[in-house]
Amino acid sequence: MVAGVDVIAIDGPAGAGKSTVARKLAARLGWRYVDSGAMYRAATVVALDRGIDLGDDDTLGRLVSALEWRLVSDEKEGPRVFVDGRDVTPRLREPAVTANVGRIADSPQVRDVLRAVQRREGQAGRLIMDGRDIGTFVFPDAKRKFYLDASVQERARRRLNDLLASGYEASFEAVLADIRRRDAADESRPVAPLKQAREAPDVRRVDTTGRTVEQVIDKLVELLE
Ligand code: CDP
Repeated sequence: MVAGVDVIAIDGPAGAGKSTVARKLAARLGWRYVDSGAMYRAATVVALDRGIDLGDDDTLGRLVSALEWRLVSDEKEGPRVFVDGRDVTPRLREPAVTANVGRIADSPQVRDVLRAVQRREGQAGRLIMDGRDIGTFVFPDAKRKFYLDASVQERARRRLNDLLASGYEASFEAVLADIRRRDAADESRPVAPLKQAREAPDVRRVDTTGRTVEQVIDKLVELLE
């Protein structure tokens, strides 16, 4: 591997397969896995529960910095997020959370706080983290940076299957519209936009359209060697 901190950064848009691939790759390498999107979702759960104005950057920043974060990398169950000792993982995919997480992710103060927590997780090394800004903003000196992508239709199909499998009702059209909306927000965010991750000079871009999870993992392992 090339020089840098012992971190593999995996960025990309919604439904590109980042979290499944990152989790299984971490299991294969025996590394820890942290899903940074889950942290933005967890902050959204807390902000919604407390009725906080999601446009109020100062209040959001104070809220998120006062929380005690614990990120558990569980190979079998998947990653878990504990906030102030409470496991919020089962709530992370609630539709209200998905609908509002973009507003939390737009908050520069929230991003600063979460970036510090994420960097702390990287101190012990041997970490895989996925998100939108991991190779650009959180670990610009990561050893390896990947950008996973897929066609928007395929990403919407995958996300629809995830939702149906979790017992939520959803239509392909609604999921597609949601993914397009979040793509646009992620691309144009003033702080740490997704565009930068895709265009970073040291990133390896991998198109996962039509590829199985195992095929994508094999490709990443090949690129790591
Ligand atoms: O799994 P999915 O791609 O739907 O989203 P996620 O990874 O759970 O992230 C939820 C939201 O948090 C995304 O829509 C992004 O707007 C935001 N996010 C971010 O801004 N920066 C990150 N490093 C990770 C997620």
